[in-house]
Amino acid sequence: MRKLVALAGVAALSLSLTACGGGNEAKTSSGGKEDASQVDVVTWWSAGSEKEGLAALQKVMQKQHPDTKFQSQAVSGGGGDQAKQKLQADLAAKNPPDTYQAHAGAEISEDIKAGYLEDLSGLYDELKLRDAFPKDLIERLTVDGKIYSVPSNIHRANVTWVSKAALDKAGIDPSKAPANIESWIADMEKLKKSGVKYPMAVGNSTWQLHLLETILIADMGADGYQALMDGKGDWHSANVTKAFEHYKKIMEYADPSLLNEDWEPAMKGVINNDGSQAYTVMGDWTPPAFDAAGKKMGKDYFAWPVPGTEGVFDFLADSFTMPVGAKHAGGTKAWLDTISSKEGQIAFNSVKGSLPARADLSEDEKAKFSDYQKSAMKSFSEDKIVSSVAHGAALPLKVTESMKKEGLGKFTAGNFDAKQLQEQFAKSAETK
Ligand code: GAL
Repeated sequence: MRKLVALAGVAALSLSLTACGGGNEAKTSSGGKEDASQVDVVTWWSAGSEKEGLAALQKVMQKQHPDTKFQSQAVSGGGGDQAKQKLQADLAAKNPPDTYQAHAGAEISEDIKAGYLEDLSGLYDELKLRDAFPKDLIERLTVDGKIYSVPSNIHRANVTWVSKAALDKAGIDPSKAPANIESWIADMEKLKKSGVKYPMAVGNSTWQLHLLETILIADMGADGYQALMDGKGDWHSANVTKAFEHYKKIMEYADPSLLNEDWEPAMKGVINNDGSQAYTVMGDWTPPAFDAAGKKMGKDYFAWPVPGTEGVFDFLADSFTMPVGAKHAGGTKAWLDTISSKEGQIAFNSVKGSLPARADLSEDEKAKFSDYQKSAMKSFSEDKIVSSVAHGAALPLKVTESMKKEGLGKFTAGNFDAKQLQEQFAKSAETK
């Protein structure tokens, strides 16, 4: 059993997690007690490889902290749309879970401002996490010198997943990425003429935003995009206009009947390689879905960076928090200990398709990951890193919600007007 010696967050007391008699209480140096008998964990990992990844973490926790009972409170909905809504209501009503999934970066800035979250700096020191995670990641997690969440993994968002069967129809080599968005659009037109009615697979507004952010990166370059996210760019500049026009054009190749779907059903044709869909832009949580369908990378499907984003790693990380007033704060610490441990990160990420957030894996430990994951690890260490909007790294929740609802929702429901969409994004960006 692993012992936690110092208490994170809550008044930096010292604590050890021990199983004692009938109960399991974490004792603090001041004599206070924290309930470590269970941990209620809110995520949106309710199905497929995401659920399996969570189960892998639960297994490691049972080994490391056998007296803490794991309670999943997963709320379905990829990207966390539904989970985040429920959470906001629960946090406002002072009824927090013991820990909840969030994205590293700006997404939780309002929760921090509202005083919903404990500062975990003490736990970082105790578990030596400042050295375990890459410096870049620690910087993205730090707000006014404090850290409020612990990452379980890193995902890359700017990946195009390509169906071989569809590209074969148009005689396009699926292993080669087009040089830029313009030539990619030309391929979509070719595909359409070859009988692939809707070459581009796109789901609901989370996935529309995900696609749009990668087009912005392609058309603006990593620095231009990041400046825009940091509030230093101009939402009315020519490159932004170009990106919104490209987005509109690409959305014309998407099946309108899928625009309310989650990522997996929306890209079924790519996953099944049935020739009905050619491409989708999706994070690298997709390989386990291909595995489940018996499809092989390099044979049935291919993956390359979104055209024009070669050398850029569009970053996001899932991260877990300790809400103020968590009923089982000792359980929360046990959970944060497990998800940040090497064992937890290896078990979870091998199943989930993501990269361990820890940067201190040995060569032998890295060898356990898939070829795709190894290549993503290399990209993460060499590429220019930018923050994903759709997955909370770049902007506060309020802003992305406004972009989705006021911008993308109205765009697809009505006029497909790129100019209006761009104006709305400029407005949403001010919702700070
Ligand atoms: C992201 C999350 C990933 C994955 C994906 C699809 O927001 O960071 O871990 O779960 O949504 O649900």
